[in-house]
Amino acid sequence: MVTATRPKQQVKIGPTQLLINNEWVESATGRRFETINPATGEVICDVAEADAPDVDKAVQAARNAFNGEWRKMSARRRGELLYKLADLIEQNKEELAQLETLDNGKPLAESLTIDLPFVIQCYRYYAGWADKIQGKTIPINGPYFCYTRHEPIGVVGQIIPWNFPLLMQAWKLGPALAAGNTVVLKTAEQTPLSALRVGELMIEAGFPPGVVNILSGYGPTAGAAIANHMDVDKLAFTGSTEVGHLVMEAAAKSNLKRITLELGGKSPNIVFADADMDAAIAGAHNALFFNQGQCCNAGSRLFVEEKCYDDFVAKSVERAKQRTVGDPFDSNTKQGPQVDQAQFDKVMSYIEAGQREGAHMLCGGDRVGDRGFFIQPTVFADVDNTMKIAQEEIFGPVMSIIKFKDIDEVIHLANTTMYGLAAGVWTKDITKAHAIANNVRAGTVWVNCYHVFDTAAPFGGFKQSGMGRELGEYALEHYTEVKTVTIQL
Ligand code: NAI
Ligand code: MG
Repeated sequence: MVTATRPKQQVKIGPTQLLINNEWVESATGRRFETINPATGEVICDVAEADAPDVDKAVQAARNAFNGEWRKMSARRRGELLYKLADLIEQNKEELAQLETLDNGKPLAESLTIDLPFVIQCYRYYAGWADKIQGKTIPINGPYFCYTRHEPIGVVGQIIPWNFPLLMQAWKLGPALAAGNTVVLKTAEQTPLSALRVGELMIEAGFPPGVVNILSGYGPTAGAAIANHMDVDKLAFTGSTEVGHLVMEAAAKSNLKRITLELGGKSPNIVFADADMDAAIAGAHNALFFNQGQCCNAGSRLFVEEKCYDDFVAKSVERAKQRTVGDPFDSNTKQGPQVDQAQFDKVMSYIEAGQREGAHMLCGGDRVGDRGFFIQPTVFADVDNTMKIAQEEIFGPVMSIIKFKDIDEVIHLANTTMYGLAAGVWTKDITKAHAIANNVRAGTVWVNCYHVFDTAAPFGGFKQSGMGRELGEYALEHYTEVKTVTIQL
């Protein structure tokens, strides 16, 4: 483990104003806020801070675009613009990866080889859909011709988190634009920079004014203004379950805007004694520690069968101790800092709670270095499924291992949570694999793998992990309204 050092790179900072109607503008109040480099705690720069009046302006621009040029543009042309955007992101991927790492703290190697390729793939995938969104002809009774049209919903508000800033932007913009909507997107206050640079590339690609408006700002102000807005037709939100409740309430109390939610998780990752142990240990490590543990779908409840428990725990601890924590710009780094002081404090408080409740902390537990928000990879064994660390989302590098006896017990425990985002199972027995896949209430189940995402495969939550699905063809139905047209013959 190495101590945090300071990124030496000179990273190019893109635009820092609000993007409204293809113009870079200051906020109505003139206020700006600072964004921090989580590896050092130092200020990177400040950005314009949107509030309700800026949201109004952005929604008006999006409405005008929806009623104007964008609505008249052919579906194929919309697809071409998305392809062009993907090409421009690809041409600038080093710069974008550096900006992402600077603002978020994730290792540069991962920004470059995971985030950026998925971002590019996502825009290309939805570019391909733009001219393939089509309705049906329906044989109804009588002398009628009946067909459906899958029309865009209108002005879409999108609120995204900080853990995968560019990727969450792509998951949101891709299907919304392919289906012909216009967008007001609010980034997370921790990571405003990369999305603004993409905004610049969208102008270069040729998207008409008002089609995509990008606002930096805080949740209770700018975010709430979007959620409450009477002229926003749909809201797509990714973030905490707590705020999911708030925005759904806002949607209900305002104009019944359509809503999709991607919220928290406490995903069970289940290891049976008959699994390929080396693969399971490596897979469980990655399932939890990837992206500093800041994944909604992290395998954060690790269930291990009694028969292989001691060996599995010992090897998992060894592996965690070897994880390299440090400067995210160093190519040897596997784990950078947590995104900010608040997340750092939250994770540390869960580490205390785990010890207080009697779980056994076998490694980690402390900060790394004396600045930035780095935390040692931490492993708790002998966790009980009722403990705070087993029920609440930690969103950090803290592994919680729970022992189980048999398949019935583990299915019951896996489902004893308010969440239902993802699950993993490690076994060579296909019957057991299917039993888990069929009986665990989660939106995604990975068998002998974890964190396998593809732009074409839907992702989303059961229970309080959310509603609706992102990615794939499934995402499109949440960005279209179905219109039935009936014609007397
Ligand atoms: P958050 O839910 O507060 O923030 C996510 C987004 O929602 C940000 O853009 C934020 O500005 C916005 N927001 C906050 N309050 C809002 C409101 N009242 N109305 C409209 N928008 C609002 O999450 P935060 O505070 O960044 O992290 C807290 C916890 O949430 C994390 O520790 C983690 O457990 C969970 N989380 C889950 C994520 C996921 O991928 N599902 C992503 C980020 C956080
Ligand atoms: Mg930041």
